[in-house]
Amino acid sequence: MHGYVNQPIASGIDLPGEIRKMKLAKNAVILGHYYITAELQDISDFLGDSLALAQQAQKTDADLILFVGVHFMGETAKILNPDKKVIVPDLNAGCSLAESAPAEAFQAFKIQHPDHKVISYINCSAEIKALSDVIVTSSNAMKIVESFPKEQPLIFAPDKNLGNYINSVTGRQMVLWNGACMVHEKYSLEKIVKLMDEQPKALFIAHPECEQQVLLVADFIGSTTALLNYVAKSEASEFIVATESGILHQMQRNCPDKIFIPAPSIDSTCGCNDCSYMKLNTIQKLYLALKYEKPEIILDPSIIEKAKIPILRMLELSI
Ligand code: 13P
Ligand code: SF4
Repeated sequence: MHGYVNQPIASGIDLPGEIRKMKLAKNAVILGHYYITAELQDISDFLGDSLALAQQAQKTDADLILFVGVHFMGETAKILNPDKKVIVPDLNAGCSLAESAPAEAFQAFKIQHPDHKVISYINCSAEIKALSDVIVTSSNAMKIVESFPKEQPLIFAPDKNLGNYINSVTGRQMVLWNGACMVHEKYSLEKIVKLMDEQPKALFIAHPECEQQVLLVADFIGSTTALLNYVAKSEASEFIVATESGILHQMQRNCPDKIFIPAPSIDSTCGCNDCSYMKLNTIQKLYLALKYEKPEIILDPSIIEKAKIPILRMLELSI
């Protein structure tokens, strides 16, 4: 059991060309996240951050959705389109944040905090979404948290770093689930500060999934879309970027004259700036997924029904 279609592909085949043809014939749409490889970004019909992709999934009129990102993103698309086929290139493309919150343990945690509303970051499983009052992404988390009365006790899951950041900006005291992103928690404050000294003209920008000590030295903190908008509008010409390396492709494309330097991680030999889950998506797997229309995201209808409520609440609050 591979989690992806494991079939031979004829040599010399024009994969992007064949993908385009199949897409038209099947009325399929390819939704891609900014963290996938440049090659896959360039063949996506729609590229976005987690919020934009959920919004796109909600309004698509395609018959077949091919989601090139990670599993929880495919699940979100399926929850919003229960009657459509949602396929992914590789079912093994998970997420350390989603995996940090198993449903049974989270249910027990929720029972320990009976007066609390549950706000869950979209980077969680469909089961956790089904246990939540509202879903957020890094683009709308602040606004949605602030939509709750100050006296309302809140649980924020599963990302403790994003939760901590929101607590520090809003003065809330949300109870945090102890999860973290394996890419964003690997940045080295020491090496970043050294790099900032060596590159005095560069601004340091970071995703809020980074640890608090890293966020404290950032010139700007934002979701992937906010970071892209910031570098495009900024008068600065050099940036040290603390988020997954895939984003650099769009930054460089939108701003060809600006310089983007990936922020250093604690272990410079490990390629920590790459999300190994996102990078499981390859053009070969994408081609085979579209050809055979699998692997498919399958969810229990009762989970879909429950998980849809907090996702739709998020989408309404994000207009
Ligand atoms: P956004 O797409 O909301 O910026 O989140 C980043 C991320 O880690 C996705 O897995
Ligand atoms: Fe999950 Fe982090 Fe990868 Fe995003 S970058 S999919 S949060 S492991």
